[in-house]
Amino acid sequence: MHAWICDNPVGVDALTWKEIPTPQPQAGEVRVRIKAASLNFPDLLIVQNKYQFKPPLPFVPGSEYAGVVEAVGDGVRHLQVGQHVACVLGTGGFGTHAIAPAALCMPLPESFPLEDAAAFVLTYATSHHALVDRAQLKAGETLLVLGAAGGVGTSAIQIAKALGARVIAAASSDEKCAVCQSIGADATINYSRDNLRESLKTLTEGKGPDVIYDPVGGDLAEPAFRSIAWRGRYLVVGFAAGPIPALPWNLMLLKGASLVGVFWGDFAKREPKNNAAMMQELAQWYAQGKVKPVLDRVVPMADLKEAYAYMGSRSVKGKLVLSNPGT
Ligand SMILES: NC(=O)c1ccc[n+]([C@@H]2O[C@H](COP(=O)([O-])OP(=O)(O)OC[C@H]3O[C@@H](n4cnc5c(N)ncnc54)[C@H](OP(=O)(O)O)[C@@H]3O)[C@@H](O)[C@H]2O)c1
Repeated sequence: MHAWICDNPVGVDALTWKEIPTPQPQAGEVRVRIKAASLNFPDLLIVQNKYQFKPPLPFVPGSEYAGVVEAVGDGVRHLQVGQHVACVLGTGGFGTHAIAPAALCMPLPESFPLEDAAAFVLTYATSHHALVDRAQLKAGETLLVLGAAGGVGTSAIQIAKALGARVIAAASSDEKCAVCQSIGADATINYSRDNLRESLKTLTEGKGPDVIYDPVGGDLAEPAFRSIAWRGRYLVVGFAAGPIPALPWNLMLLKGASLVGVFWGDFAKREPKNNAAMMQELAQWYAQGKVKPVLDRVVPMADLKEAYAYMGSRSVKGKLVLSNPGT
């Protein structure tokens, strides 16, 4: 097998594509032949030692992938060789094969395209947990999505539309705004050009958005929070811009509003039954065509460094997928 190896987490340049022995699954494990993996923002941080989870060295990055079970270890009952699966394990995806705990592999119907599956679970689960569980977004409410053309942003637009909400998508270019509109956003704001607060005032007739979905942080957070509606819910999803915002508490008092944390990874670990029910609903929505990952491009796994550069330059619209067509 081949894999991208990180033995010194000083950045993307230090990664090397190496041939390594194909591992055998131990008890409770399976070996997955990886067909596709997607790039998520944490993949960028983990190879720079900037992510909250720091795997022991050396490791294979790649938080999310989909493929076909090729070998099963002792005691594995619910997966057989040939079964299609999706895995979100934090590492292991940027290679041709990976060992995964069988209990953490999500079985997929063969009708679920593996490129979509590799780009689905992490972003859609995060946005469903954020909007349905944490924010209790209701039909007819208005949602503002920041960084709306990114991975989690595009999934948030589609999920909010499936729930019957009105979506204002905010992003840094007209091109990104056009992508948001093409997947259902009702209105867009280009925050590189337009004043966020003024635009929100106009688009909501002074009321403000009921829910704000923020995977960006940085300088956008305070003006966004100042625009929120009475009883608004502000979802803290991530800090792609870098700085972690600090908000004055009087803003929450003045709007009767809540600041709500979102951590899908821990939700899945701490509340596995609720997570499984949520994944079932998402799979149904996918089958009904209500949600579908926006694939910016699919590139060969060997082009990982170019893919990282594309994400690092804030260029990805939707998701970037790496594929192993030959495996
Ligand atoms: N809480 C959770 O459970 C959870 C789960 C998954 C991901 N996340 C977090 O959500 C965030 C977004 O992840 P993602 O995979 O959707 O990433 P992504 O596809 O790269 O999207 C991030 C968006 O942030 C905006 N951005 C602003 N400043 C940026 C900068 N300096 N560098 C890069 N992007 C910048 C960009 O939109 P514009 O150019 O339009 O501003 C970009 O589209 C990350 O912080 C990630 O860790 C959290």
